Amino acid sequence: MCGIVGYIGSREAAPIVLDGLSKLEYRGYDSAGLAILNNGEIQITKAVGRLKVLENLTHGGETMPGSAGIGHTRWATHGAPSDMNSHPHFNKEGTIAVVHNGIIENYIALKKKMQDKGYEFVSETDTEVLAHLLDYYYKGNPLEAITKVLHRVEGSYALGILFAEHPGDIYAVRKDSPLIAGQNDDGCFIASDVPAILKYTRTVYYVDNQEVVRLSGDKLYFYSVDGEELNKEAVTIDWDANAAEKEGYEHFMLKEIYEQPKTVTDTVSPRVKNGEIVIEELNMTDEELQNIKRIHIVACGSAYHTGVAAKYIFEGLVRIPVEVDVASEFRYRSPILQEGSMVIVISQSGETADTLAALREAKKQGYKVLGIVNVVGSSIAREADNVMYTWAGPEIAVATTKAYSAQLSALYLLAMKLGRARGTIGDELFGELLEDLRKLPNQIELLLGQKQKIQRFANRYVGAKDIFFVGRGIDYAISLEGSLKLKETSYVHSEAYPAGELKHGPISLIEDGTLVVAVSTQPMLYQKTISNMVEVKARGAFVMAVTCEGNKAIEKAADYVLYIPESNPYFANSLAIIPLQLFSYYVAVGKGCDVDKPRNLAKSVTVE
Ligand code: G6P
Repeated sequence: MCGIVGYIGSREAAPIVLDGLSKLEYRGYDSAGLAILNNGEIQITKAVGRLKVLENLTHGGETMPGSAGIGHTRWATHGAPSDMNSHPHFNKEGTIAVVHNGIIENYIALKKKMQDKGYEFVSETDTEVLAHLLDYYYKGNPLEAITKVLHRVEGSYALGILFAEHPGDIYAVRKDSPLIAGQNDDGCFIASDVPAILKYTRTVYYVDNQEVVRLSGDKLYFYSVDGEELNKEAVTIDWDANAAEKEGYEHFMLKEIYEQPKTVTDTVSPRVKNGEIVIEELNMTDEELQNIKRIHIVACGSAYHTGVAAKYIFEGLVRIPVEVDVASEFRYRSPILQEGSMVIVISQSGETADTLAALREAKKQGYKVLGIVNVVGSSIAREADNVMYTWAGPEIAVATTKAYSAQLSALYLLAMKLGRARGTIGDELFGELLEDLRKLPNQIELLLGQKQKIQRFANRYVGAKDIFFVGRGIDYAISLEGSLKLKETSYVHSEAYPAGELKHGPISLIEDGTLVVAVSTQPMLYQKTISNMVEVKARGAFVMAVTCEGNKAIEKAADYVLYIPESNPYFANSLAIIPLQLFSYYVAVGKGCDVDKPRNLAKSVTVE
């Protein structure tokens, strides 16, 4: 994971780089470092801990003068978080400094070769090998040295590199780890993600795989891995700059929970035209949609959970068989795709390494891939054959909320479009679904109004040891996400189980007072879930139910009930998840956890 930033221009580099890193801390936050080039010398400061430690150490960058610099915020892969393992890494003389996001897979062999040549390593990282390799190949021409190194390393990387002998330049390289370059009147930038430089420029270049960038004062140059100069088109970013700020909320997570009505509207509205669903990005005719025989959905984390929900929705509404896979499993299980298979990958960041690999596997087998992606221009967005963007805007909190909601909305649209094209959704049902879809943002708003009630309830569970989430069908998909949110943000052990499966093991863990969250939004399954609630209650569980307005019968079996407004059962996920997100958030706040940056996690998982 990790985040990198670089700046060269007419201003002081360190404060700009630190500011950029502060927008990338969601990518990693166990240590950070800066390298600033001044008067032909590279000054390096690095510190274990949050970026704040580095900021304090350098007085906001003041102690590191110079107008060219690179910085890094780390999520440790090779070597524990420590000052030594923090980036930048450098050669023995300190004349070459490197920051790296990604993994050098053949670093052990390379390290051995460099040690045989007399190079000494001071860290346990894979990155240090790059600094020494650059030193080895550098004979006065940085581009030449970089391209030679690139031919020797395997793995994924986005690099920022300083050469003391070239004070007017910063070099950057990308392969399979995100990297953008940007420019304004004051200078040039590189970063792992747009929010890092959005304050300074909206003119951005997406660096492609195996490309080298030279930031030369006020101009950007792009080269192929063989050193040939390339022409690249700039993209103008039209995000609202405030979108990446907290705007008075205590945490990004809370702000993003509150942005969900807008997120759903922004994802749905542009695709409803004259009472029909129009998904131009699909690039498929109705006939092609009719010919789909099977859908494979592949994703990680919460995005995977939207896939689990989609399985129930697509199979129920569209009658297409759906397989859902966690991307890290899909890529290595020799998946069998057959004629008529449609592959959908879902990813907020568009950079998740396993999801990207799954996409490539499907393409290798000759299948077209549809990406449901939030980050414009990300790797998955660029490599997928077709991209349906979820217009959630930048999501900063590590635990996703609004992007998850946007993904669900995109999947509803897709199901409706498919059902319409294949005749499984008739006019009447389509009209009802459309109406319910349009109501969702207001209904989410209403649920957000229950914040205080949920906070009070959550406060009772700040000391909880285990919490179980159960549900059937779509409610099981909701339970998976509710449970993951709780684990991620509050470190409370929690499990999600299909309600009917409880008695095959987990029921043995129920003790007096154990909280069981029963999600019950599918009228067809109300009675079945109530039976399971009664079973755990009889063993001492405290049962909190999340169900639809009108399901009063549940009050007999539940100790506490949260009602969601009535909607089509296929859309219930979008509503039932709101109280569960708020619950996780408030348990985490109550425990004093670092809600936006939970321990050990990163938002963009660009390693396997
Ligand atoms: C990480 C994040 C999760 C996210 C998952 C998949 O684990 O913390 O919130 O769901 O990665 O990320 P993606 O960007 O592919 O949706």
